[in-house]
Amino acid sequence: MLIIHGGTPLEGEVQVRGAKNLVSKAMVAALLGTSPSVLRSVPAIRDVEVVTGLLRVHGVDVDLDGDTLYMDPTSVESAGVEEINVHAGTSRIPILLCGPLLHRLGRAFIPDLGGCNIGGRPIDFHLDALRKFGAVVDKDADGTHLSAPNGLHGIRYELEYPSVGATEQVLLTAVMAKGTTELRNAAIEPEIVDLICILQKMGAIIKVHTNRVIEIVGVDELKGYEHRALPDRIEAASWASAALATQGSVFVRGAQQTDMMTFLNVFRSIGGAYEVNDHPVDGGIRFWHPGTALKPVALETDVHPGLMTDWQQPIVVALTQADGLSIMHETVYENRFGYTRELRGMGANIELYSDCLGGTPCRWGRRNFLHSAVIAGPTKLHAADLQIPDLRAGFSHLIAAMAAEGTSRVYGVDRYITRGYENFEAKLLGLGAKIERPSASSRV
Ligand code: EPU
Repeated sequence: MLIIHGGTPLEGEVQVRGAKNLVSKAMVAALLGTSPSVLRSVPAIRDVEVVTGLLRVHGVDVDLDGDTLYMDPTSVESAGVEEINVHAGTSRIPILLCGPLLHRLGRAFIPDLGGCNIGGRPIDFHLDALRKFGAVVDKDADGTHLSAPNGLHGIRYELEYPSVGATEQVLLTAVMAKGTTELRNAAIEPEIVDLICILQKMGAIIKVHTNRVIEIVGVDELKGYEHRALPDRIEAASWASAALATQGSVFVRGAQQTDMMTFLNVFRSIGGAYEVNDHPVDGGIRFWHPGTALKPVALETDVHPGLMTDWQQPIVVALTQADGLSIMHETVYENRFGYTRELRGMGANIELYSDCLGGTPCRWGRRNFLHSAVIAGPTKLHAADLQIPDLRAGFSHLIAAMAAEGTSRVYGVDRYITRGYENFEAKLLGLGAKIERPSASSRV
């Protein structure tokens, strides 16, 4: 639990390191190499610890020195169900081990997945593609067992929806499958492009065509890589939104304009100000509240290059301070507005609808999910006791508590926030936030 005394503008500077949603996949890619890999700018977050554990039980030597990760997969070996199952329910990354383990060992065991509870999060695309590659998939009470008795062979495959994870699954499997794979309707998020760069460094042949088509020519062997992870654009946007909601000013060192163009357009439309410093070493983006009223906007989340679903929650908190009615239509996940209940408890005026408001009809409107939000502002937020429901919503609860008058207690920070935000308490303190952990006596 974190105690937050709100009402203080966040002022100062934070550093963002490599993106959680690239680093964890880059670690999986290291399994494919016959020589060691080096990954730089690795954040100290729990998802990295989880994947480290998974690699280690498979015989990969993993060493972290500062923010540089060394991974030696030369002695990859099968792991037992029990030691793998230690990591059950902790993350969604284990599903991406399928292709690399099948290539290296001929079989794989995948524990039950975890990750944030923001929708059904099925893995049907992953398993369907793996079966087409030639994998035999058996689910039992322990988890999922896979084998490839006849090897893995390139496929022509079209995704029903440009899923990030399923695109990564196909990439990590196709790079060493026999023959050529053509993936249509692929996701093209910057983290996927960075993963493609890593695989290319390892010796893969991957062509990214227009219109979401990726062609992969399978090769017999891949070597290790050296790579600096692209910066975390979700964390950067979280700090930007915190600056706006608390009427502060934050320089996010490491934030990169090219990956954040859509966010920057939205930030400016709301009335936020920013300045890009593109110095190769010390660059970043300064975000601030210009002191004038914030403007309402109608937005919808989408796959890249649209507005990221992970930017939605911090933006919604900032929109509670805009002058008028804003709309947020969530089209990626069916259940990503649960956190607004707590915001309403703090005085925010947010209503949820099952219609596709203000945008193009999406998959969730037809199925009656509450996936559009109307935010009426500006509303004064007041302190409350908050229970964090997931990673990104959790960070927006922190933002709301910092913007609110009074003292809030936020529960669940260690379970959720540390999964994806490195050193966030020190960063908050550095920005002048008035936060504290409960003393031992008040914890009982
Ligand atoms: N989907 C299916 N079947 C599948 C796979 C996906 O129906 O087999 C659906 C999902 O249910 C969802 C949509 O496709 O409605 C998009 O899901 P996607 O596969 O793109 O998401 P993911 O790979 O599970 C990653 C990030 C998420 C991020 C999404 C969208 C990681 C570890 N997670 O999830 O990040 O929201 O892409 O950009 O990379 C976070 O960092 O907090 C987070 C949730």
